[in-house]
Amino acid sequence: MCHDEGSWGNATFDHNTTSFPLTGMHTNVNCIECHAAGYTNTPTNCDACHLTDYNGTVEPNHTQANFSTDCTQCHTADGWTPSSFDHTASTGFALNGSHQNVNCNQCHAAGYANTPNTCEACHLADYNATTDPNHVTAGFPTDCAMCHDEGSWGNATFDHNSTSFPLTGMHVGVNCIECHAAGYTNTPTNCDAAT
Ligand code: HEC
Ligand code: HEC
Ligand code: HEC
Ligand code: HEC
Ligand code: HEC
Ligand code: HEC
Ligand code: HEC
Repeated sequence: MCHDEGSWGNATFDHNTTSFPLTGMHTNVNCIECHAAGYTNTPTNCDACHLTDYNGTVEPNHTQANFSTDCTQCHTADGWTPSSFDHTASTGFALNGSHQNVNCNQCHAAGYANTPNTCEACHLADYNATTDPNHVTAGFPTDCAMCHDEGSWGNATFDHNSTSFPLTGMHVGVNCIECHAAGYTNTPTNCDAAT
C-alpha cells in the first residue's frame, strides 16, 4: 500500500490523497486510533469519532445548548478552542465592540433559541441604574441604540441639535419626556402645539 521494492525508506502513501486529508491536530494522531476497525469504510464525519467529546463539553454545554452534532459548523481539526463559529454570519446578530469579549453563557443563560436581540431586553437594569445622567428621571427612550453602540456606555452619540429642532435657550435641560410624552416621532415643532 505504501512501499515498492526499491527501499523501505521511500513510502509513497499520502493520506491527503484520500477524501479525508489529515490536517491540524489530526496530523500526529496514530493510524490505529482512527483505524482500529480497519482501513476500509472509515467514517469521515466528525461526530462518528467525537460524539463522546460533544457529550462531555461543559463550556459551553453542547447538549443543553442543543448544538448541532455537525461539528464542522463550528470546529475544524485545528482544535476545539477557539471555535470557528461565526456569530454574525450564522445568526444575523453581530458581536460588536465589547460583546466580542462576553461569554456565550452570559447572553445565552436561558438557552440558544429565541434570544432577544434588542439592547433594552438585556440592559434595562443598566438603564434603571444610571445616575449620570439619570435616564429614568430624564425620560430617555429605552431604545439604547438611538444613543449608544456596543463599545462602551460612555460615548453616547445622540445630538438633538442634529434634528430640525435644536434645543436652545430655556429648552436646554428640559426633560425629554416633557416634550416627548407622545413618543419620539412626529413631535410638532411649532411653538403653539399642545404637548
Ligand atoms: C484522524 C483520523 C485518521 C488518522 C489519524 C488516519 N486516518 Fe486513514 N483514514 C481516515 C478516514 C476518515 C479515512 C476515510 C477516507 C475516505 O473514505 O476516503 C481514511 C482512509 C484511509 C485509507 C483508505 C484510503 C482509500 O482510498 O481507501 C488508508 C489506506 C488509510 N486511511 C491509512 C492511514 C494510515 C497509514 C494512517 C497513519 C499514517 C492513517 N490512515 C491515519 C482517518 C484517519
Ligand atoms: C475516524 C475518526 C475521526 C474523525 C472522522 C475525526 N476525528 Fe478528530 N480525532 C480523532 C482521533 C483519534 C483524535 C486523537 C484523540 C483525541 O484527541 O480525541 C482526534 C483529534 C481531534 C482534535 C484534537 C483534540 C485535542 O484535544 O487535542 C480535534 C480538534 C479534532 N479531532 C477535530 C475533528 C473534527 C472537526 C472532525 C471533522 C471534520 C474530526 N475531528 C474527525 C479521530 C477522528
Ligand atoms: C453552534 C456551534 C457549535 C457546534 C455545532 C459544535 N460546537 Fe463545540 N464548541 C462551540 C463553542 C462556541 C465552543 C467554545 C469555544 C471556546 O471556548 O473558544 C466549543 C467548544 C467545544 C469543546 C471544548 C469545550 C469543552 O467544554 O470541552 C469541545 C470538546 C467541543 N466543542 C466539541 C464539539 C463536537 C465534538 C461537536 C460536534 C459533535 C461540536 N463541538 C459542535 C460551538 C460548537
Ligand atoms: C452579547 C450577547 C451574545 C453573545 C455574547 C453571544 N450571543 Fe449567540 N445570540 C445572541 C442573540 C441576540 C441571538 C439571536 C439572534 C437573532 O436571531 O435575532 C443569538 C443567537 C445564537 C445562536 C442561534 C440560535 C438559534 O436557535 O437560532 C447560536 C447557535 C448562538 N447564538 C451561539 C452563540 C455562541 C456559541 C456564543 C459564544 C461564542 C454566543 N452565541 C455569544 C446574543 C449573543
Ligand atoms: C442578548 C443580550 C444582549 C443584547 C441583545 C445586547 N447586549 Fe450588550 N451586553 C450583554 C452582556 C451579557 C454584556 C456583558 C455584561 C455587561 O457588561 O452588562 C454586555 C455588554 C455591553 C456593553 C459593555 C458594558 C460595560 O460596562 O463595559 C455595552 C456598551 C453594551 N453591551 C451595549 C449594548 C447595546 C448598545 C445593545 C443593542 C445594540 C446591546 N448591548 C445588546 C448582553 C446583551
Ligand atoms: C437619548 C440618548 C440616550 C438613550 C436613548 C440612552 N442613553 Fe444611556 N447615556 C446617554 C448619555 C448622554 C450618557 C452619558 C455618557 C456620555 O455622555 O456618553 C449615557 C450614559 C449611560 C450609562 C453610563 C452612565 C451611568 O450613570 O451609569 C449607562 C449604563 C447607560 N447610558 C445605559 C443606557 C441603556 C441601557 C439604555 C437603553 C435601555 C440607554 N442608556 C439609552 C444617552 C442615552
Ligand atoms: C423642548 C422640547 C424638546 C425637548 C426637551 C426634547 N425634544 Fe426631542 N424633539 C423635539 C421636537 C420638536 C422634535 C421634532 C424635530 C423634527 O421633527 O425634526 C424632536 C425630535 C426628537 C427625535 C427624533 C429625531 C428624528 O430625526 O427623528 C428624537 C430621537 C428626540 N427628539 C429625542 C430627544 C431626547 C432623547 C431628548 C432628551 C435628551 C429630547 N428629545 C428633548 C422637542 C424636544
